[in-house]
Amino acid sequence: MMKLLVLNPSKSAPLEAEVVPVTAAGENGFKCVGGADHGATLAKLAKAGSAPKGTGGTRFVRFGGGSGKQRAENLLFSSLGALKELDEEKLRVVGGQLFRSLGAEKVTSASLDLDALSGAGWPAALTPVKTARALAEGLTLGAYEIPSARTAQPGKGKGKGEPPRKLVKFGFKLKDAADREAVEQALSQVEATAECVNIARDWSNAPPNVGIPEYYAAEAVKLARKHGIKAKVLGERDCAREKMGLFLAVGQGSEREGKVVVLEYTPRRTPGMKTLALVGKGITFDSGGISIKPSLRMEEMKHDMTGAATVMAATLLAARWGVKNRIVAIMAFTENMPSGTAIVPGSVIRSRNGKTVEIINTDAEGRLILADVLDYAHQFRPDAIVNIATLTGAVGVALGKMCAGLMGNDQPLLDAVRKAGDAHGERTWQLPMWDEYFEDMKSPFADMRNSCNDGSGGTIRGGIFLKQFIKKGQPWAHLDIAATGWGITHLPYLPTKGASGLHVRTLARLAADL
Ligand code: BES
Ligand code: MN
Ligand code: ZN
Repeated sequence: MMKLLVLNPSKSAPLEAEVVPVTAAGENGFKCVGGADHGATLAKLAKAGSAPKGTGGTRFVRFGGGSGKQRAENLLFSSLGALKELDEEKLRVVGGQLFRSLGAEKVTSASLDLDALSGAGWPAALTPVKTARALAEGLTLGAYEIPSARTAQPGKGKGKGEPPRKLVKFGFKLKDAADREAVEQALSQVEATAECVNIARDWSNAPPNVGIPEYYAAEAVKLARKHGIKAKVLGERDCAREKMGLFLAVGQGSEREGKVVVLEYTPRRTPGMKTLALVGKGITFDSGGISIKPSLRMEEMKHDMTGAATVMAATLLAARWGVKNRIVAIMAFTENMPSGTAIVPGSVIRSRNGKTVEIINTDAEGRLILADVLDYAHQFRPDAIVNIATLTGAVGVALGKMCAGLMGNDQPLLDAVRKAGDAHGERTWQLPMWDEYFEDMKSPFADMRNSCNDGSGGTIRGGIFLKQFIKKGQPWAHLDIAATGWGITHLPYLPTKGASGLHVRTLARLAADL
């Protein structure tokens, strides 16, 4: 984990590298933001055509910092792009690029002078706290390493080789003591954020032979205890007592017992305290069941529990932030497998709320398990229920990887989810929930069917199916994260391989702002 520091410039010794922010000035010109200490070096870089460009571009100059006790040995010129277009998301991108460049240069500590980022042309909205927070988010979220089972690679830090050197310390310099204190507080929140996001990533990246329902249930209880959160695990017998017929049907082809984990984060009672129910899909492996998936990229279906991982991490993060609202987190873990005991298409199953479902496609299993736990969530009298799930491949067809699909029944709640996400660069896009979409999901044999098998409107159909299990007057939102959960390559502050950790911040922020 990277350490974030706040430094008093008159007292602190220089770190290995100094970040020098750069912006474009005039035609083909480059300018240091704030002090022009390194203007001469930048001018030379510009002349040679190697000044950093765009938002996040970098140029490392080893031993370019000059000598003397006050100066860092090395410089990292970092392009912020046009200052008037700068915002928090761009600063996250810059932070991600900083981490990548410093890591590539084997620099272990670096600093940036925040006082330099407040002068002429600097956007007034980007206060020292907001600037530091966004840069730090980019730096720390970008610092994730996949827990790998790779064996010894000489020189790569596993086994006997030399350990890799990478950025471990990043300092923000500020003259004003009050500013330093405020930034310090923001940075400790960012550290908590990165730690929790990394838990979601680790869970999602776990191989499916390790990440089985029992494993996540045990980990959830352990983590909850550590954070003072109440935890309860329902095994399959408990689920049968709860009449969770759909949840049990999905898991009945698996050798492994399904688990429903229920967490309760209850802060000290305050006037106006709200309750948010978070519900996550935790399919620990989605083979498709009898409606089996093709083998191409089937290994990615280990990530089908990312919704549950996101709920877990967001609940921990809310606790770390000291959020003043109550959270009930419900995670439904089970494995979708084909076998002699597996559910077969044509089966009719009764859900917890009594409605019957004809199973057309055993691969539309996420909506089945969520139906039962969404119904279960109502008993906590939540002011809002938000579920999150890798529900449909179709969401990537509709929206690509730039945002999650957002659906629901209550516009103020949907707006609040979007706003919470936007605050952290986690974009969502609302899809319609017109009742006509449900027409095609009716069945002559039951109250509804779980799929139409016609390949149209798949994401909305998933959403409208879930809506059948939400009681009248209950505000509810559904996030489909099948495209954003893993394999994000367009944001330099996210891992390019495996789980992204996206949407943890959205849910924690929503809990805070509800
Ligand atoms: N877990 C999948 C959705 C998914 C697919 C996530 C690809 C990420 C990448 C889900 O359970 C599923 O299989 N959905 C089906 C629904 C269909 C059968 C109605 C799908 O998307 O094809
Ligand atoms: Mn499926
Ligand atoms: Zn699935």
